Amino acid sequence: MHNNIAAAAELLRTGGTVAFPTETVYGLGADISAPSAISKIFEIKQRPTDHPLIVHFADMSQLQHWAKEIPESAWKLAEHFWPGPLTLILQRSNRIPTTVTGGQDTVGLRIPNHPIALDLLKKLGTHTAIAAPSANRFGRISPTTAAHVYDELGGTVGMILDGGACEVGLESTIVSFNNDTPTIVRPGGIPPDALADVLNGQIILANKNNLAVRTPGTHDSHYAPTTPLEACSSEHITQHSLELAAQGLRIVVITWSNYMKDIPLNENISRFCMSPESHAYGNQLYATLRQFDREKFDRILIETPPSSPNWLAINDRLQRASHL
Ligand code: TXA
Ligand code: MG
Repeated sequence: MHNNIAAAAELLRTGGTVAFPTETVYGLGADISAPSAISKIFEIKQRPTDHPLIVHFADMSQLQHWAKEIPESAWKLAEHFWPGPLTLILQRSNRIPTTVTGGQDTVGLRIPNHPIALDLLKKLGTHTAIAAPSANRFGRISPTTAAHVYDELGGTVGMILDGGACEVGLESTIVSFNNDTPTIVRPGGIPPDALADVLNGQIILANKNNLAVRTPGTHDSHYAPTTPLEACSSEHITQHSLELAAQGLRIVVITWSNYMKDIPLNENISRFCMSPESHAYGNQLYATLRQFDREKFDRILIETPPSSPNWLAINDRLQRASHL
């Protein structure tokens, strides 16, 4: 693991891959103008090649270089939230190769809010950008530290830049403009009401019926640990923990509320308490799931979080991670 950003930029320029920190999760980057590096990303992640990659760049003035027909609402969101955990799906300009977009005419674009990511982009130069999916194997939990990237992708990545733990810890919010009204196709680091405030309420949440955009990877079982994960309401979690333990299962119970104190100490039950505050919870979530995945429990039992808008991305990821 390294901190040599100039060497990382040089590696990208010569067709290598670099994992780097962003404020959301670590990305696995390649220069969009290096076709062999783009194919390496799909190989390393074992990801189907029709799944589009997010293109990262450093400066608002480049937006029109990478996208065309940019709607007014997209400009408003970009000006308000970039750099930050927001990805806009826009019509791609012909400077974006279709290998990056999974063959689609749209491209996901984002200016990340992390000094290392921004420095890397600046050193690479203004006429190119970095395509970067999350730096995990297809279908697994996104990495939020350099050590997570190393554990999962090890020697397959050209270089890993270490920027410590990611501040947001969940992926960016993705907004599409394919519908008449801007549509959140993946909840993420920016809560829906913050977006709605900027657009005077003119934004909707995608569901099966209004989805006019193809977003591979946002609907399948995703973001999953290998240990079966089950969500359980606060009211039932104590009782359910005891039932599972009585069946002889070794479980870890992850809570956020004070129901924790009722869960008994038991040789089959481990307990872990998360923050009751959504930002801190989101920031801890993936690292916590990875940690307990390594400890080979029979099941991870997780207390269902609150349903308020700030918890939307967390509830979305937990739903996808649930095997039960
Ligand atoms: O926070 C993030 O967004 C992180 C960091 C590294 O920036 N990146 C990330 O990338 O989560 P990835 O590839 O793991 O997830 C990107 C999602 C995929 O579900 C993909 O289908 C969707 O974005 N996506 C990207 N470009 C798209 C496009 N042109 N049309 C529809 N969906 C797109
Ligand atoms: Mg991903």
